[in-house]
Amino acid sequence: MRKPDYPDADPRRWSLVDTYFSDLLCADDAVLIECLERNSRSGLPAHDVSATQGQMLAIYAKMVGAKRVLEIGTLGGYSTIRLARALPDDGVVVTIEANANYADVARMNLKRAGVEGQVDLRVGKALDVLPGLIGPFDLIFIDADKPNNPNYLTHALRLARPGTVIVGDNVVRGGQVIDAVSGDANVQGVRSFLELIAEEPRLTSTSVQTVGEKGWDGFALAFVER
Ligand code: DHB
Ligand code: MG
Repeated sequence: MRKPDYPDADPRRWSLVDTYFSDLLCADDAVLIECLERNSRSGLPAHDVSATQGQMLAIYAKMVGAKRVLEIGTLGGYSTIRLARALPDDGVVVTIEANANYADVARMNLKRAGVEGQVDLRVGKALDVLPGLIGPFDLIFIDADKPNNPNYLTHALRLARPGTVIVGDNVVRGGQVIDAVSGDANVQGVRSFLELIAEEPRLTSTSVQTVGEKGWDGFALAFVER
């Protein structure tokens, strides 16, 4: 193990630092605040990415010059709005949501954000919707039920082109990812996903841990070489 540059921090500070960064650099505007409020009022789980993470996704979209983004797992559409705003006028986010009630909330949020023309919201189980999609997508964000992550990766590879970036959310899970014998299907889904990424010769991959208002988690990042 390498020597840490900084000692362990107080986890409560992770949130304060997140607030500092997001207020300074990438604050939620009125539409995004309203989106999160509607999600909460509607009983959606608070699994949206943070403002700083949403801005990270938006910057990835810009870095790859994305015109077509695929999102697996819409929830209330917070990240969908962040991604849609990062696209050129003729860009599109195809986003898949299995829960019809969540999709109704997302539809309202997307309309309020004025991005409904740039978002193609598909309601259904991702494994039913994905076979009907035609690629390529420039950026693929996998953020749905974790036990299916390996299946989503298989579809992502089919729907990618050389240069596509694949991002997988929630691969650290408070450190549980290293528990090989975990009885948690989410942990096992994420582990199988990462192992599939590791053995896929078309991918150059890493995973980055994050701390902040979402606690301790992280993203898998994979670049499609060919
Ligand atoms: C869960 C799912 C997510 O996508 C997330 O960002 C956080 C938690 C979950 O299902 O527990
Ligand atoms: Mg997530």
